[in-house]
Amino acid sequence: MVKAKKWVVKKYFDGVPMKSDFEIVEYELPPLKDGEILLKTEWISVDPYLRAYNRNYPLPYDQFSFQVGVVQETKNTNYPVGTRVVTHKGWCDYVIVKEAKPVLGEVQKEILYKLPDLQGLSPSLGVGAVGMPGVTAYFGFLEICQPKAAETVVVTGAAGAVGSLVGQIAKIKGCKVIGFAGTDAKCQWLEQELGFTKALNYKKVDAQSALKAAAPQGVDCYFDNVGGELSSIIIGQMNSRGRVAVCGSISAYNEDPKKMPKATILQPPIVFKQLKIEGLMVWRWLDRWSEGFTQLVSWIKSGQLKAAEHKTVGFDKLYDAFVGMLAGENTGKAVVKV
Ligand SMILES: NC(=O)c1ccc[n+]([C@@H]2O[C@H](COP(=O)([O-])OP(=O)(O)OC[C@H]3O[C@@H](n4cnc5c(N)ncnc54)[C@H](OP(=O)(O)O)[C@@H]3O)[C@@H](O)[C@H]2O)c1
Repeated sequence: MVKAKKWVVKKYFDGVPMKSDFEIVEYELPPLKDGEILLKTEWISVDPYLRAYNRNYPLPYDQFSFQVGVVQETKNTNYPVGTRVVTHKGWCDYVIVKEAKPVLGEVQKEILYKLPDLQGLSPSLGVGAVGMPGVTAYFGFLEICQPKAAETVVVTGAAGAVGSLVGQIAKIKGCKVIGFAGTDAKCQWLEQELGFTKALNYKKVDAQSALKAAAPQGVDCYFDNVGGELSSIIIGQMNSRGRVAVCGSISAYNEDPKKMPKATILQPPIVFKQLKIEGLMVWRWLDRWSEGFTQLVSWIKSGQLKAAEHKTVGFDKLYDAFVGMLAGENTGKAVVKV
């Protein structure tokens, strides 16, 4: 019998999630049935959508997220002992999983695939730059923004998992890249390490005038991770036929849904500049994720793409890593080593 631990959400979050909203439950795993595999978790992801999806599930629920695990025992010949896999089983140290049929275009409750060939890179990238956030940046930006060389691209949440990749992919495509992030240190890192043309601390600058100065020629593509007034300001400075990929709205995830912050009305720039604004769910490209993984690994190996990570160690630290990420403690992908 294997003793396992998991984090269970027992109360809906109200504002910033509290540690008392969770409970760590210890239990014994049953023997494996045909088709099943037993995993020992190695890396667990903490992501903004764990906050955003909180009220979508009846309580109590096991805290889901992407994770990388190693097969310990198997009753599935496709997954021999020692194989590294990616699942959506989340915050648990041991877990039993089986293959699930993917439903294209929909949020997958169950997911199981072999860790892509990382060519010696850290397996933690399987929940980051070569995982769900990686393909969000890759397909979300390239498919929706359709960037052309010399165009001006703006990305918010620029120093985070998705944003830092979007900005670098934009550089690879020959664009001028302006990023918004929440500290001076992050802005310095974006400019000096990742080669962003300009990075602006949205907590300090007047976004309207700072963006005007950084992009006097206007904005062609905007990858929106944050929503709110900052996004309205950026969309207000877009050029004719500009493209906006709406990926998330983290500026409001901890807000009371009944008292959401108000932002400037967007219809005038959308109409007069004939903007294309499109929301995205990374699941849309599920059948092409492996194509994205191959390109992302190749860019990382060639040094064109830096896959920064903010690593926290310890199963007991998952909550701290989660709220730390929501508060902006991470530069790059926030990930926990079990
Ligand atoms: N649609 C999809 O399929 C999909 C898939 C993956 C992710 N997403 C979305 O993409 C966005 C980024 O996700 P990620 O995984 O890459 O997370 P991340 O950027 O690595 O981490 C979250 C970051 O959000 C920033 N933040 C927190 N509060 C903010 C606020 N009030 N205003 C502006 N920024 C704030 C913080 O950085 P600062 O220090 O800069 O504030 C923090 O580091 C999220 O909105 C997420 O929901 C969507």
